[in-house]
Amino acid sequence: MSAPICRTRKLVALYGSPRRQGNTSRLLNQAATGARAAGAVVEDVFLGDLSLSPCLEDNGCRDTGRCVIADDFQRIYLLLDECDGLLLASPVFFGGVSAQAKILIDRCQCFWAGKYLLKRVRGGFSRKRPGLFLSAAARAPRPDLFEGAVRTVRYFFDALDVALWRTLLYPGLEEAHDVLAHEGYLREAFDAGLRLVAEVDPGRPEQG
Ligand SMILES: Cc1cc2nc3c(=O)[nH]c(=O)nc-3n(C[C@H](O)[C@H](O)[C@H](O)COP(=O)(O)O)c2cc1C
Repeated sequence: MSAPICRTRKLVALYGSPRRQGNTSRLLNQAATGARAAGAVVEDVFLGDLSLSPCLEDNGCRDTGRCVIADDFQRIYLLLDECDGLLLASPVFFGGVSAQAKILIDRCQCFWAGKYLLKRVRGGFSRKRPGLFLSAAARAPRPDLFEGAVRTVRYFFDALDVALWRTLLYPGLEEAHDVLAHEGYLREAFDAGLRLVAEVDPGRPEQG
């Protein structure tokens, strides 16, 4: 009897901080490294490097489920549409996600239109795609510190049919290198990336 063919899992890692070597970038890099150790292919996307217009709310996506603005989003759309799982990192900025992350999230209104207006059903798998959200904030822990960011990410993931499988939220990190003093946080992020790969629906066929 031949062994089942397990195809490569394709993940997308969205870096939402303007700091390439900041806390959330370092944490996400660890998670991506963990996912690669589990055999996944991970595409790193630094949102600050992209040329992205904010959503212009002309509702062009309502007819087709595709955004009509011609910029780097068109490539990211395909990555997000076809990936098996998603990793997103953003610092807390004024109680929410960074501007870099929010611009991308708002452009994903086309996924929302496809799902809720055009009633598109994402076929080919029985389980939602797993998603991991990592965040850092400077303030000391308090119950609502990550509330705004996590709420936005929940809406974002829902539009993409991604399940918020796990959140890793780290308070008390301010300078770009602060996370380096917390080996446990970095290890936790690595382990989460490793384990996220096992959350991908094993029956999910190749996309794209
Ligand atoms: C524009 C801006 C807004 C911020 N707003 C908050 C905030 O509301 N709450 C908080 O705890 N930290 C806030 N911070 C601090 C960052 O969340 C913190 O430094 C974080 O570690 C940055 O992550 P990064 O290194 O991945 O960019 C803010 C920082 C900036 C630059």
